[in-house]
Amino acid sequence: AMDSGVARLPITNWELYEQELQERIGADQKLMNRITSQAKKNPKTVVFAEADNYKILKAAQTVNDQRIANPILLGNRKRIQEIILENNLNLDGVTIIDPFEEDAKREEYAQMLYIKRQRKGLTLFDARRLMRDRNYFGSMMLNTGEADALISGLTRDYSKTIAPALQVVGVEEGINKVAGMYIILNKKEPYFFADTTVNVNPTADELVDIIGLTARAVRFFDMEPRVAMLSYSNFGSVQGDIPNKAAEAVRKAKAKYPNLLLDGEMQANTALNRQLLREHYPFSELAEKGANTLIFPTLTSGNVAYKVLQELGGAEAIGPILMGMRKPVHILQLGSSIRDIINMVAIAVVDAQNYNNQHI
Ligand code: ACO
Repeated sequence: AMDSGVARLPITNWELYEQELQERIGADQKLMNRITSQAKKNPKTVVFAEADNYKILKAAQTVNDQRIANPILLGNRKRIQEIILENNLNLDGVTIIDPFEEDAKREEYAQMLYIKRQRKGLTLFDARRLMRDRNYFGSMMLNTGEADALISGLTRDYSKTIAPALQVVGVEEGINKVAGMYIILNKKEPYFFADTTVNVNPTADELVDIIGLTARAVRFFDMEPRVAMLSYSNFGSVQGDIPNKAAEAVRKAKAKYPNLLLDGEMQANTALNRQLLREHYPFSELAEKGANTLIFPTLTSGNVAYKVLQELGGAEAIGPILMGMRKPVHILQLGSSIRDIINMVAIAVVDAQNYNNQHI
């Protein structure tokens, strides 16, 4: 039985596996409940860059009422007040900041941004103009410590919202590239997907960074990462740009993170189906438990995968969680629900609580 010298793990039966699959449909709330109670222990100031929006205001009311966060609403004051009135929202005592009323603050921030980016082609004139954009104004509030976390997005294209945050807040020291992660909740354990939002076609080295960031973020959520680097091939079964890039990323990441449970390149079903792993790839480090963390070789694959799951998979997708920023910034996807926004605020608060040690 031990002819090949490879230790074979016991093969559980397929029926059991199918049963498990059935049980997975429907989202378990343990992880999010834990994050929410952690947030309530020390609520942080969260600035909402796009507050002239019903869903944002409703979410802000909820996090304020539940003491998950202290919201600051950025936007046109009149418009925000209208939406509050029209929808009978109660945001009494919540600070509204209209950047257009804040001449002195805008000037102060413009000077700071100019100093930061004058050698990146930014003129003072441009810096003044940019401060009328709430994403720049909000990012600056984070830089000066007037807010602990920034939530933006929802109404504008992701790439347009992340660029100001990258320019103003920037990446954490020692990190090259930020990346986006989704938590996929079903009835069983949580799964983690990356990069789902930022890097269009990461190189092998960038994938190594994404693997490192994602492993850290999974640990932030008190889970032990079991990482699969995905491709359309299994362990060299096909040669090609993507399989080769993914295999190279695995080799380099194993050297860089020797204690990380990581394998690949492999197909997504191989990663998630330990029955298949045990039968065909018993040598894999993931054969015992399967993967809970999936790293995608391109943005297309990661973005498409979570969106299909979100719509058809009977699972809840929490995110996008932006990893590797110098301060907590999270950018909502177009069409996030109120529930999604509240979840992201709770995550941002816990992220902010931990910013001096283990964060996202
Ligand atoms: N990590 C860290 N820093 C970055 C990254 C990154 N991944 N990408 C760009 N930067 C830096 C740039 O180097 C630049 O720094 P500098 O100006 O201080 O030198 C700064 O961020 C701003 O760069 P820009 O030139 O304004 O932006 P760029 O053209 O580099 O584009 C962007 C960055 C917007 C993230 C781009 O890669 C992109 O469009 N990605 C895809 C986003 C997207 O469409 N996602 C899919 C939808 S998301 C969803 O479904 C929720």
